[in-house]
Amino acid sequence: MSRRTLTFSIFRYNPYDPEFEPRMQEYVLEETPRMTLFTALTDIREKLDPSLQFDFVCRSAVCGSCALLVNGRPRLACRTRTDEIPRRITLHPLPFFRLIGDLSVDTGSWFAQMAGRVQSWVHTTRPFDPASEEGRMSNEQALAIYELDRCIECGCCLAACATAHMRDDFLGAAGLLRIARFLIDPRDQRTDGDFFEVVGTDEGVFGCVGLLACHDYCPKNLPLMTQLAYLRRKLALASLRPPLRWILRQIARRVA
Ligand code: FES
Repeated sequence: MSRRTLTFSIFRYNPYDPEFEPRMQEYVLEETPRMTLFTALTDIREKLDPSLQFDFVCRSAVCGSCALLVNGRPRLACRTRTDEIPRRITLHPLPFFRLIGDLSVDTGSWFAQMAGRVQSWVHTTRPFDPASEEGRMSNEQALAIYELDRCIECGCCLAACATAHMRDDFLGAAGLLRIARFLIDPRDQRTDGDFFEVVGTDEGVFGCVGLLACHDYCPKNLPLMTQLAYLRRKLALASLRPPLRWILRQIARRVA
């Protein structure tokens, strides 16, 4: 297969320099076998422009730091092969998060405040006893929790989310998935009503308008569509008075 010449158009901006005007800058690079966007960006920085800012740590889709917009769509740079995309490549930083510079954004602060907002820890009244056996759970429960814990906090779901573009206090699929993870954890003693108090709002589970781009662009293929639907239904029921909740459950059973 003949080698291609790749043309990158990359967003450049330094928000800390008042003289710096945002612009798109072009770089031309020869494609190499099995090249990823991460290796291409590293080549650009090493050979063409050492001032280019972008993030990476693991290079294997684990740390979530290399997410960016590739031709308008959120993707991980370390998992995107250049031979999967056209030779003209436009790169922007992820929207929604604070821009640090060029392609680098601060997802860490957002995820830290989200963890506080959704109270991302096991709530239990059981006193801590370091000498006791660890709490037991079934394999099925452990695997279900593990499945939701696979989120790498890359921010692709929020970058793709229509609601997050309209309201910056929206918890997004990442925040709601975190709640879903504690909802199925048998050690967490919170009730559905307690979870409703935390995310039963328009900034939480009822803000989602159901376009589900989060599901389409999650690089880890997390079950976001299923979890959002499950959470909405469960918390909608939790918000109702007990007799009405019972009637709706009966109707749902008949329809199913
Ligand atoms: S560098 Fe860690 S996910 Fe891409």
